[in-house]
Amino acid sequence: MSTENNVKFTFGMVGLGTMGRNLLLNMADNGFDVTGYDKSEKMVQIFEEEGKKHQLKGFNDIKLFVQSLQSPKTVILLVPAGAIVDSVILELTPLLSQGDIIIDSGNSYFTDTSRRAIELKEKGIHFFGMGISGGEEGARFGPSLMPGGDKEAYTVVKNMLEAIAAKVNNEPCVTYIGPGASGHFVKMTHNGIEYAIMQLIAETYDILKNGLKYNNIQIQEVFEHWNKGRLHSFLMEITKDIFLFKDLKTGRYLVDLIKDEAKSKGTGKWTSQVAMDLETPISAIDSAVAARNISKLKKLRVSLSQTFGTAQPIQETSTFIDDLEQAFYFAMASAYAQGMHLLSQASLQYAYDLNLAEIAKIWRGGCIIRAEFLQDIYQAYKKDAQLAHLFMDNGIENKIKQSLPGTRNVIATALQAGIAIPTYAAALTSFDMLRSSHMPSNLTQAQRDFFGAHTFERTDMEGIFHADWNQKNS
Ligand code: 6PG
Repeated sequence: MSTENNVKFTFGMVGLGTMGRNLLLNMADNGFDVTGYDKSEKMVQIFEEEGKKHQLKGFNDIKLFVQSLQSPKTVILLVPAGAIVDSVILELTPLLSQGDIIIDSGNSYFTDTSRRAIELKEKGIHFFGMGISGGEEGARFGPSLMPGGDKEAYTVVKNMLEAIAAKVNNEPCVTYIGPGASGHFVKMTHNGIEYAIMQLIAETYDILKNGLKYNNIQIQEVFEHWNKGRLHSFLMEITKDIFLFKDLKTGRYLVDLIKDEAKSKGTGKWTSQVAMDLETPISAIDSAVAARNISKLKKLRVSLSQTFGTAQPIQETSTFIDDLEQAFYFAMASAYAQGMHLLSQASLQYAYDLNLAEIAKIWRGGCIIRAEFLQDIYQAYKKDAQLAHLFMDNGIENKIKQSLPGTRNVIATALQAGIAIPTYAAALTSFDMLRSSHMPSNLTQAQRDFFGAHTFERTDMEGIFHADWNQKNS
């Protein structure tokens, strides 16, 4: 396919990094005429080399790139989130016409996406924010796609997105998410859940390694066994393989040689920040974000460990590993439940009109949080789209009830031993609060009224009240 013959390409990609290239190769494999642009000549060369089979052509001149596209021109961006997205849009817009489409497929912050959609609408250009999950492998062979924006423009790209997406039971892991920035909001929430599940796996590893003193082979066996049951998931799958991966340089297990300081690009933090704004509790996700931040305080951790000592071993009972499986199930289910709850609140606040069943459905394949459990979430919201909380679904409710004794045992044991399990503990405590028909918040209200005259409501009469708390009447 070449522009010299005046043959135009159907889809163009800006950003020929690994994700961009892999997505284009995926599109080409599915029979679409695609091209790419990158300002780096080297990236264009790598792209053309990898796309040899399809004789793919790339550009490092943005004008020629845009000219090579069929109308309406559809340009997909896969560049780092933030200011770069704005500068690429600035370069592209004078070259585009009314009715053309820009799809931002990076992990952009959703309010940036809303702003860009409004700015581009004024120019008659359709703008889509599309979450992509699945990493390099997913982009190449089938990601989960979360496109949100102008519905009319979606019809132009629908067939292509359905072709390149992962498939579960022959159904593509893509759906029109909703208007505005809903696609990026849903992807951000996906990442928040991803943080929580990753942290739960890390805490489980800590219990097995430092509590039970298991070696890597024993730890691998536990995860492998769980991965055959209801805890089956992509993250469980890759984790079990990590434990036995040997470093070529030293012959030792690589995981044991990696620094214990977790980095982050920001999507987990954004999920927590937005949830606070929406007054929606997602403590399992918050605790996972905080755990990454604590991990970065290495120097301080080392000094405090010298002062206060570290965790104690756990005496393993015959049921402990089964209890741990129950605890993992409970906390994992809590993380998904909190994410889904956040989506339902955001849907109301931003008028996204989200279909939670469809979102769970497209997360069953291709994405990082794909898991057996998503089938249950999908069924729960399919049965009742208005479900107030995932744990109110009959099937899930029963499994949660059964998992509670084991969960409490594991959490109490780990806390007693001094093993840090913030996400397990957050999942359980927020559940215990949610199932409280009476919380001690009456006292909080009394305090607020005492020091700030913030008033309170009463259980025995209607109205807004204030008391003179300094008056000695007790
Ligand atoms: C995905 C991932 C992807 C990325 C994370 C990493 O769904 O494919 O979530 O988007 O790997 O954003 O995030 P951190 O660097 O913050 O861990």
